[in-house]
Amino acid sequence: MATYPKEMQESIVQVEATRPQRMKARFPRLSLAEQEALLRGFHPDYKEGGKRPLQVGPSQGELVPHEVADLLEAYPLLDPREVDLSKVDYDVDVLVIGGGGAGTVAALWACEAGIPADRILIATKLRHGDSNSMMAQGGIQAADKPHDSPAIHYLDVIGGGHFAGDPKLVRALVQDGPMIIRWHEALGVMYDKGPDGTMITIHGGGTSRKRMHSAKDYTGMEIMRVLRDEARSRGIPVLEFSPAVELLTDVHGQVAGAVLWNLETEEYLIVRAKATVLATGGWGRLHIQGFPTTNHYGATADGLVLAYRVGAKLRDLDSVQYHPTGAAYPEQLVGLLITEKVRGLDAQPVNRDGELFVHPLEPRDVESAAFIRECMPLEQGGRGRGVVTPTGMVGVWLDTPMVDMIHGKGTFQRALSSIWRMYVRFDIDPTREPILVYPSLHYQNGGVAIDENGWTGIPGLFAGGEVEGGVHGKNRLMGNSLLDYNVFGRRAGLAAAAWAKDARVGRLTLAHVKRYVEQLKAAAVPKERRAPLLLPDYRGERVLARMVDLL
Ligand code: FUM
Repeated sequence: MATYPKEMQESIVQVEATRPQRMKARFPRLSLAEQEALLRGFHPDYKEGGKRPLQVGPSQGELVPHEVADLLEAYPLLDPREVDLSKVDYDVDVLVIGGGGAGTVAALWACEAGIPADRILIATKLRHGDSNSMMAQGGIQAADKPHDSPAIHYLDVIGGGHFAGDPKLVRALVQDGPMIIRWHEALGVMYDKGPDGTMITIHGGGTSRKRMHSAKDYTGMEIMRVLRDEARSRGIPVLEFSPAVELLTDVHGQVAGAVLWNLETEEYLIVRAKATVLATGGWGRLHIQGFPTTNHYGATADGLVLAYRVGAKLRDLDSVQYHPTGAAYPEQLVGLLITEKVRGLDAQPVNRDGELFVHPLEPRDVESAAFIRECMPLEQGGRGRGVVTPTGMVGVWLDTPMVDMIHGKGTFQRALSSIWRMYVRFDIDPTREPILVYPSLHYQNGGVAIDENGWTGIPGLFAGGEVEGGVHGKNRLMGNSLLDYNVFGRRAGLAAAAWAKDARVGRLTLAHVKRYVEQLKAAAVPKERRAPLLLPDYRGERVLARMVDLL
């Protein structure tokens, strides 16, 4: 029996009453002009006062969210005078910073390109695999079916990203897709298949063909399981609980490794490397504009900070992705991801009156804006038709019972087993009752600018995965993040290996940090601002006040 309180149950009665009619109807897609108007009116990216132009650094003048600007315009954690760069703890050919999907893929392909495993080092903030890659649910896009092609995939990505993506990067993404799926299969990833052995592929938001490959609703975990095993089999060393706090350069200005901070012993570790790959993921834990997040604990934009200080350009950081369906009830699940695959399997978003108010699979930014409009009170310009929970959260229903009604009994539990388990623990059975959702901070659409080989433009520095930008323009489509980290993790690993074969590293320095500090001082940046953040701080006044309330 559901734990929904009475008011919410009353709304569920409306949802059930409109369901037979909705199951027959199709909600029309919005025109480009309608999408644009919705975004301008309700997407948080357009909210006045949410961003500011950077005052210092290579992307000076670019608009970024305040939460991100506060980290980019911040003093280092370390004092360069306190770090002894003559004492090198690890000397390697390729240093990979980040042990999620992109980092593991980069290390594997650097190895494949001929760098001995013991000349590679993966340094990671938490444990190997702790990352958004592991938490990804719905799937990975790849145009590998006869009804599809990389060219059609390209059009979806470019259009979905509002024509702001770098065509060379988008081309690399879509062209490598089928090869990545074959590579995964060869390594042992168990994608969902039909009885005849062909891959099952479904739609995601903004896709014109069914090209989403999944492993139930834990696709990210399944891929990561296999990649991590492969890295272990090859003997690639991994240093856990050791986030990078600064990149190192040599006297000739090339990036030459990093200073790590051992979270357990609280000591600096110096890594000298001929090539460095940044694979630190994104920024979800910055809770931009106060949104809850789907992201893992370590997603604190560290890579952006490090790359920016060493002179790398950033792009498209004015654009933040909010996943339309973050959990909004019960309180313990707030913000957690409810995969888009649920809508891919025909569950509809409906308001408190049981009305379907948007096509279920508009591109993510449009879908989120429609949810926000539905929930925003009338006096603020919204439609005021959200469902309010006992703690004051507001959300719309995702009519999950439709999945089994349309696709057959047992489909939900089979295809969406993680989501099912997540809810039955709270006595909510999503095959019988809808679940409440609201947008949750999900992805960093932009990032460090790269070329199609993952090169950042700074000698010796490469990047892959969520930390880099240019692939998704101003809005990423579902399933393209798993593809991105595989494609650009691989390309960055190969390019780093090629660079390392010829590179000579001179004396190590932190000269770029000193130069950046001078710029911060000249711009009168407050001294107390420090970065990288490394771990989010949940001891703020609001959180503590809530804990006191609960006591
Ligand atoms: O909805 C999801 O499963 C998320 C996928 C993604 O961000 O690509």
